[in-house]
Amino acid sequence: MKMTPLGEEIGAEVTGCQLAEMSDEALDQLKEAVWESGVVVLRGQDLSPQQHIELANRWGGIDINNYFPLNGEHPEIAEVRKEKDQQTNIGGGWHTDHSYDQVPAMGSILVARTLPLKGGDTLFAHMGAAYDALDEETKAEIAGMRAVHSADHIYAPDGAYAQTDQGKALRGQELKTLATHPVVIRHPQTGRKLLYVNPAFTLHFEGQTREESLPLLQRLYAAAMTPEAQARVVWKPGTVTIWDNRTTWHMALNDYPGEERIMHRITLSGEALAA
Ligand code: OGA
Ligand code: MN
Repeated sequence: MKMTPLGEEIGAEVTGCQLAEMSDEALDQLKEAVWESGVVVLRGQDLSPQQHIELANRWGGIDINNYFPLNGEHPEIAEVRKEKDQQTNIGGGWHTDHSYDQVPAMGSILVARTLPLKGGDTLFAHMGAAYDALDEETKAEIAGMRAVHSADHIYAPDGAYAQTDQGKALRGQELKTLATHPVVIRHPQTGRKLLYVNPAFTLHFEGQTREESLPLLQRLYAAAMTPEAQARVVWKPGTVTIWDNRTTWHMALNDYPGEERIMHRITLSGEALAA
């Protein structure tokens, strides 16, 4: 297995690895690359839905997403779809999946099934690099702070997606989510300090209103917007991307009007987060 960095401080492109038939040693190596670099890309994979599920179970278990449409034959697989006639995509702003859960998902294995001819790339940002980029004063200010996360304003009947042409496809509108996590977490496996707030699901700091929280939140978000902290995944048929939700943010570009894009996502179980 060979790894080539994707960006300066983020990501790895892995060659010499077929996900459907990898050894336990190779799986351990791959996990470490995901935890440290945040996102790994593998090309030329021939991974059936059944093999996708088997890989996720070997990795450490599956969290079923409560909102995305599920694949009819394989309910472990969520479908991230944009039809030819839809305008809105899923995950089109910077976010971390499932930060609104008490025990957020570790990450995802995303498999390209139908791609536009061009466009539909996914951007990733490394939240360890973002934390490192903060000045010492800010690091001292956020040490010990906690933030409140929810998905309700995104997925509720009057939420962001309900007002778009993705609204009908989504499930779970009646769910209520609320979770509090440290603003700076330690990665459960690597111990690295990571900034754990995101523009989609973080509402406010604990003990502050949203209005009071926004200036500092915006400063923290800006730290993830450096070129060194970012990488772009350009999908091709057979591409599989695996990411860590603690180490990274991601966003899906919506630049392929009139074309279809269908991705199969399996969400990997995580653990409780601590400062
Ligand atoms: C997701 C997501 C990105 C993409 O599956 O969580 O944000 O590029 N997808 O489809
Ligand atoms: Mn996502």
